[in-house]
Amino acid sequence: MEIRRTDKPWTEVEADWLIVPVIESTDLPAWLTQLDQALGGIVGRLKSLGDLTGKLAGTLPLRGITGIGASRILFVGLGVAKELTLARLDKALMTASRMISDKPETRVAFVVPSEAIGTVSPEEIVTAATTCGMVGSLGQDLFRTERGRHPFACLQIAASGPEAALDAAMDRGRILGQAINLTRDLVNRPPQEITPLGFAERARTVAADCDLRIEVLDQQRLEQERMRSMLAVAQGSPQPPCMVIVEHNGGGPNAPRLALVGKGVTFDSGGLSLKPTDGMLTMKCDMAGAATVLGAMSAIARLKLPVNVVGYMGLVENMPGGSAFKLGDILTARNGVTIEVLNTDAEGRLVLADVLSYAVDAGVDRFVDLATLTGACVVALGEDVSGAFTNNQSWCDTVLASAKATGEDVWQLPMWDLYEDLIKGDVGDIKNTGGRWGGAITAARFLQHFVGGKPWVHLDIAGPAFASSNKPHREAGATGHMVKTLVELARRFAT
Ligand code: BES
Ligand code: MN
Ligand code: ZN
Repeated sequence: MEIRRTDKPWTEVEADWLIVPVIESTDLPAWLTQLDQALGGIVGRLKSLGDLTGKLAGTLPLRGITGIGASRILFVGLGVAKELTLARLDKALMTASRMISDKPETRVAFVVPSEAIGTVSPEEIVTAATTCGMVGSLGQDLFRTERGRHPFACLQIAASGPEAALDAAMDRGRILGQAINLTRDLVNRPPQEITPLGFAERARTVAADCDLRIEVLDQQRLEQERMRSMLAVAQGSPQPPCMVIVEHNGGGPNAPRLALVGKGVTFDSGGLSLKPTDGMLTMKCDMAGAATVLGAMSAIARLKLPVNVVGYMGLVENMPGGSAFKLGDILTARNGVTIEVLNTDAEGRLVLADVLSYAVDAGVDRFVDLATLTGACVVALGEDVSGAFTNNQSWCDTVLASAKATGEDVWQLPMWDLYEDLIKGDVGDIKNTGGRWGGAITAARFLQHFVGGKPWVHLDIAGPAFASSNKPHREAGATGHMVKTLVELARRFAT
């Protein structure tokens, strides 16, 4: 997709669609007067007829127009100006971009007013328009002969003002769009392609493109590292496991290091605790944590953030083959903790256990892990919200603030000691499930045994990582949820 900024007057920008934001207000916003005049006053008439309300994410297409460079206009509502947030802006611009991406070879221009709308600056609008143009026009129908959605042929950002700042905002938007689409692509691809080694191969390409250091630990190395908890999960599959480590050293040798750790179960059948078909149907998405880490790392590197960040991705397939691990097995994790297996479908925590302890020993200072870890978290918070869990409130506050700043929804759940009783082992140190109640929390408490007391936040993305249905503002399938938050977190980590 060709992406560029133009400072031509909006009336002269040539495009198949000109996307024009409007707000909920009594008068026509000042930025629309010139366009209104060029169109013979139709914008004003639509406003007085009540057709142009400006309500959040409401759209009004105008086709076959003359008098301006574009042949169609799509008005999109941003709601009340002083209530505008980045999350609302995203919703509106994603809706617009999805609406007009049903045909191939479309040339699109986003209009960006040169004044702030409420508290949202023109630069922020430029970034959002660029990202939404890229993410909204890409579908999950990767293998359909006739695609329902088509990436724009050309995306122009019609914004004039401080050139360097606007261009930087557009680059940022482009990098975020690329990262989110990378994460979505990895998750949307079928599990026959994205096996542990298939994922690692993609990671190598990404690392080369973004100038990330990469290391892939194969099964033999994992055995040398005594990662027996993770290896147990891989036992039932003919696909060998691996761990991908990518590194961005932008902060100098003495700066602290941030670890992003991702669950990469490339397919979760449940193992011997086999899932029923309905529950297994979307389990190609169980590597979304790893895909989110790789997406975020690609953006952190491309943005050249002055910070040291390492991404760790634990990749396995959970299958019920003849050599599968069994209920009642006792696993000795890399850090010596013994784990009693009560359910082979609680495999994500077994993978993360060893990956976290590897990162601890590598001397990383702070941790965030991302995992499609529990159905219980989806029951608790719904499909659109991630759960946060921590052993360090101030570090968690930083993560939550980063999420809030980018408009992604995350809600913290408690980690009280009373939950620990639920995972206390009878034969080994801990059990890999805590029973029916509080399942998202007992899973997090399990992980806490492997972070060596370092500041750590666990994000359970089981709900939002993979959407079950289309909405006007987002495609079903992989969402790329949390990529932006991680990039924002890395930015804050630097300062
Ligand atoms: N990958 C699943 C969790 C999941 C569920 C992700 C729904 C996305 C959507 C995880 O490995 C799992 O199976 N968890 C079990 C844990 C239980 C056996 C303690 C669950 O949530 O049922
Ligand atoms: Mn499972
Ligand atoms: Zn799983």
